[in-house]
Amino acid sequence: MTSGRTFPPGFLWGTATAAHQVEGDNKGNDWWEFEQQPGRISNGDRSGLANDSYNRYREDFSLLREMNNNAHRLSIEWSRVEPQEGEFDSRQLRHYRDVLGELREQGMRPMLTLHHFTNPAWFARKGGWAASGAPAAFLPFVRRVVDELGDLVELWCTINEPNIYATQGWVFNAWPPGRTNDIRSLWRVLANLRQAHEEAYAEIKRRWPERPAGLVHNRFLLTPYNRKNPLDQLVARAGSLAMDNWPVAAGRLQRTVAASGDFVGLNHYSGRLVRFDPRHPGQQFAFQQNPPGYRVSDFGDAVVPEWMHESLVDLKSLGKPVYITESGIATHEDAWREDFLKEILAEVLRAIADGVDVRGFFHWTAIDNFEWSRGWTVQFGLIGMDPVTLERKPKPSSRLYARIANENAIVD
Ligand code: FCB
Repeated sequence: MTSGRTFPPGFLWGTATAAHQVEGDNKGNDWWEFEQQPGRISNGDRSGLANDSYNRYREDFSLLREMNNNAHRLSIEWSRVEPQEGEFDSRQLRHYRDVLGELREQGMRPMLTLHHFTNPAWFARKGGWAASGAPAAFLPFVRRVVDELGDLVELWCTINEPNIYATQGWVFNAWPPGRTNDIRSLWRVLANLRQAHEEAYAEIKRRWPERPAGLVHNRFLLTPYNRKNPLDQLVARAGSLAMDNWPVAAGRLQRTVAASGDFVGLNHYSGRLVRFDPRHPGQQFAFQQNPPGYRVSDFGDAVVPEWMHESLVDLKSLGKPVYITESGIATHEDAWREDFLKEILAEVLRAIADGVDVRGFFHWTAIDNFEWSRGWTVQFGLIGMDPVTLERKPKPSSRLYARIANENAIVD
């Protein structure tokens, strides 16, 4: 083993999940309602029992332990904890105490996300994140979780992917509340999420000043088709500003992260090449394409390992530690996932060598789960699941990941 393939001491190895995608029976949130509308989810799929991880979390955590993971990212379901506005369910809070306690007992550090796409139905009915009172309605939940569970949480993520959440829901009509090009609401949603992030961060710091907390940002990389062509550069830059609309609405990522973030959570999956093309005024003269020569995932996205390096190096100027809070591929070919792991981790090491302070890697995901509007049609897991018996079936990639975590290094 050469040291060039080894990660820094104390590096965190884990997987990432979101409550709605794995727990099952989350009937009280806006996603559950959305899934009942015909035509919303591929194949007419529903989350249903999902992985039934609400009940099987012990078994699931043993599988993570078998992968030698020393950390795990999970989210807490707001609609369970606060099923009606102002009414907190102490039984559910106890459940999450059990979950976090079990995780720690099995040797993994919990990284807890406060908001990962789903909202209680009561909150959605009041206008959700587009309503002016949204951050104030979110805060009591945050306070409860911070006060009652915080002793068990080692790392906090405030909001998951504000840019993706807001555009899928208010521009592309793909996720709740199912709006198309509602740009005015989009900006309100982004501003509200930014405020919610800042207030959640302040709450966490008030109670647990030593525990790192941060925002999770999705970087969908837009790269000029011809790096030497100024027009390609221009449209790629404009596109990036739109994709990173969080910093635009929020008054720049730098300031938000500097003022209220101990680390940056990076979710990175893919991107596109962008070329200036006068024939596409509707797309701001930007023609997007997958780069030739790279494999395309079941999501339709090219997988370009070098883009992980680029995304990480871009974050260097923020001067904060980075956790890769999600990285993975949608594929039914697990052998590709094994190659992917080695390739992507080599890019992470290259970024570390270039001075980026990367502290951990959370693979999306542990077990194949309910992938939002794609339902059960795509698979991101290191572990498979029988759809009828819900039996867990570790894939060969899980054994590779176990060896990587054990060695704290890329292995063959
Ligand atoms: C991210 C989400 C996560 C999962 C992966 C594939 O955008 O945060 O819940 O859907 O994509």
